Amino acid sequence: MRIHDKYFELFLSQDDIRQAVITMAESITRDYRGCELVCIVVLKGSFIFAADLVRAIELPCRVEFLSAKSYGSSMHSSGDVAIHVPDIDITGKHVVLIEDIVDTGLTLSVLKAALQNFHPASMEIAALISKPEMRKVQLHVQYVGIEIPPVFIVGYGLDYAEYGRNLPEIWALAEEH
Ligand code: PRP
Repeated sequence: MRIHDKYFELFLSQDDIRQAVITMAESITRDYRGCELVCIVVLKGSFIFAADLVRAIELPCRVEFLSAKSYGSSMHSSGDVAIHVPDIDITGKHVVLIEDIVDTGLTLSVLKAALQNFHPASMEIAALISKPEMRKVQLHVQYVGIEIPPVFIVGYGLDYAEYGRNLPEIWALAEEH
């Protein structure tokens, strides 16, 4: 499968993804029973994952959105994280940040620091994909769907230069063609 100048091969099927989402939602449902839960979706990449995850969480919860960008149109984090944090009322609430992928960890560490200023009761991260070998900062990710090696992936919300987000599976950059 081709996007722009690159070729991709199937990496995670719809079933693999569905299973990871359901398992994570079960953990969140168990851990936050009786809490005032606010799910914060980190756009853009997380929009599809978040839509599936929140529908599988069997608790009343608020869903809020904010945006963060660090990749531009390249395949590597620029290391320069641009965030837009709207005025979200999370003071005293239990927050789960919903993220499609944790790579270097820079985006979420910047976001967490910004959101701590609003004094939530707790704040955890729920990430569908984690690439632990790529971390540049220490970051605790409470809920991880699938750990993968450092391969570039697209699909299920993730893009390559803004294309590929609508693919229902996750695809990895293929070896040279
Ligand atoms: C991706 C992804 C995370 C971040 C993870 O966003 O959605 O937010 O990168 O990388 P990091 O752990 O190295 O910081 P991107 O900047 O591509 O923006 P997008 O979600 O709008 O595509």
